[in-house]
Amino acid sequence: MISKSRWKLLAMLALVLGVMVWYSISWEDRYFELFYFPVPEKKGLCLHGETEKTVSQLFGNYSRDQPIFLQLKDYFWVNTPSAYELPFGTKGSENHLVRVLAIISHSIPESIQSLKCRRCVVVGNGPRLRNSSLGGAINKYDVVIRLNNAPVAGYEGDVGNKTTMRLFYPESAHFDPQGENNPDTLFVLVAFKALDFHWIETILRDKKRVGKGFWKQPPLIWKANPEQIRILNPFFMEVAAEKLLHLPVQQPRKLKQKPTTGLLAITLALHLCDQVHIAGFGYPDAFHKRQSIHYYEQITLKSMAGSGHNVSQEALAIKRMLDMGAVKNLTSF
Ligand SMILES: *[C@@H]1O[C@H](CO)[C@@H](O)[C@H](O)[C@H]1NC(C)=O
Ligand SMILES: *[C@@H]1O[C@H](CO)[C@@H](O)[C@H](O)[C@H]1NC(C)=O
Ligand SMILES: *[C@@H]1O[C@H](CO)[C@@H](O)[C@H](O)[C@H]1NC(C)=O
Repeated sequence: MISKSRWKLLAMLALVLGVMVWYSISWEDRYFELFYFPVPEKKGLCLHGETEKTVSQLFGNYSRDQPIFLQLKDYFWVNTPSAYELPFGTKGSENHLVRVLAIISHSIPESIQSLKCRRCVVVGNGPRLRNSSLGGAINKYDVVIRLNNAPVAGYEGDVGNKTTMRLFYPESAHFDPQGENNPDTLFVLVAFKALDFHWIETILRDKKRVGKGFWKQPPLIWKANPEQIRILNPFFMEVAAEKLLHLPVQQPRKLKQKPTTGLLAITLALHLCDQVHIAGFGYPDAFHKRQSIHYYEQITLKSMAGSGHNVSQEALAIKRMLDMGAVKNLTSF
């Protein structure tokens, strides 16, 4: 009996030792592809300025003075010159922009502003959220950022039902602003072209809609309260493109590549939050080409061809952020 339990103990020790050795030598990029360590839920453990340190490593000489949302006073009383055209700046789109800024708001809600430490989660639209049961955990963050038309209804158990901000552009605005969101959700427009400002103006002022110039017909009716609409500072698109994907941003029209809304949302979160967690990022691997890339619809990686997104470059950028500890992942990647 005694020797049997001793063997058991020895085997346990050997196992622990083995895991420790393996753990210390395999700490490299590949690790994240192969294994998944759930982030233990440590509620309340949020260090102010936690991301700021890693962000300076990641982005180099980077200013945190930039406003999150564009505001009228920067374009009306003074003309804030922008170095780049959309989607990386506002150069040349100011006239359209000012008309929208005159009817919407730019403030960050007091409930976020007043937090000593902001814990944020960026919920991607990937298939890893399916059956994840992460809904309850996601709802606990101070700020929940969702992307495009990602639904909540019917998926609450896996993706939660709290939405602090939803990043979108006209072609991805096919969601019900009232039904799929909370009464205080902020709808954050990511502008790729001047026409995107014009679209939101025609919707809010109920002016004649424009049909041409979009790669997909945006909604004609979109009932959102102007008070809940914001325009994301294109600075974040510039940072995502330049610092994370190393794209030349000087001549956007010649540049066929741009960051996805997901990468953009992470960039924004690193600026806004003290703690950034992500969930539902990553695409199916090469062996599962026919697996859907979204948790809510059947659509494969093939549909990304010609989208102007460099999926593998983005995966590398996200891996780098995970390795550095700038962000933590609630799902596998
Ligand atoms: C960093 O940025 C500031 C202002 O944006 C600039 O004055 C400074 O020269 C930059 N430093 C480096 C090393 O690029
Ligand atoms: C999720 O769970 C349901 C019911 O338990 C099951 O039918 C389905 O196949 C699961 N989906 C995935 C992607 O694992
Ligand atoms: C989310 O769902 C829970 C449980 O169904 C509900 O009590 C809560 O009000 C919902 N929250 C929001 C923001 O819709």
